[in-house]
Amino acid sequence: MHIDILTLFPEMFESPLSHSIVKRAIERKKLSIEFIDFREFTKDKHKQVDDYPFGGAPGMVIKPEPLFEAVDFLKEKRKYLLGSDEFPLIYLTPQGESYTQQIAEELSHKKYLAILCGHYKDVDYRVREHLVTREISIGNYVLSGGELPAMIIIDSLARLQEGVLSNMESAYSDSFQDNTLDGPYYTRPREYRGYKVPEVLLSGNHKLIEEWQKSKRKKLQKR
Ligand code: ADE
Repeated sequence: MHIDILTLFPEMFESPLSHSIVKRAIERKKLSIEFIDFREFTKDKHKQVDDYPFGGAPGMVIKPEPLFEAVDFLKEKRKYLLGSDEFPLIYLTPQGESYTQQIAEELSHKKYLAILCGHYKDVDYRVREHLVTREISIGNYVLSGGELPAMIIIDSLARLQEGVLSNMESAYSDSFQDNTLDGPYYTRPREYRGYKVPEVLLSGNHKLIEEWQKSKRKKLQKR
């Protein structure tokens, strides 16, 4: 899977992409990521990409030009990856649909995605109307930009790529599978500060253990 990230702050991604599972997904060539600093696409002589909102409101709005130009560039560059005429551009905004494991599953099967990280107040609405194909929120709170949400989405997609997790780490027993939340896990020692591991887990009785584990998975409730 290839993901292009449109951002004004590509450096923010350096550390999250260089560790653990995401790093592994990239090393194993299951995931590739490129950054498009859309400031490079403005013809403004001061390289300014934002401006005051018409009608007056606090905050700045990202101008349409650098984003339309950047998307034109990507449409051409990624032609070989696009299955149809549609250019899949996800905009990260608190106004979008709530991100869930189900959406992660769905996106993880795509060969190509572009993600737009907004900043400041918003992007010009014409970008949302005419370029963006899906709007996603990672939760009901406001962050300063879409970079952290993009990292969350990348992480959730990296671990779902085939050949990234080992059997032991398999995504299949994770929370949200079959509409349940994962149960508790224990490891050595059997007793720590007087706190004991449940007897059944030490019993060696696989049938009982499986029943116990199943009973501990909670039915997913709307929260
Ligand atoms: N940008 C700012 N806040 C956000 C949120 N909660 N989800 C996605 N993108 C955002």
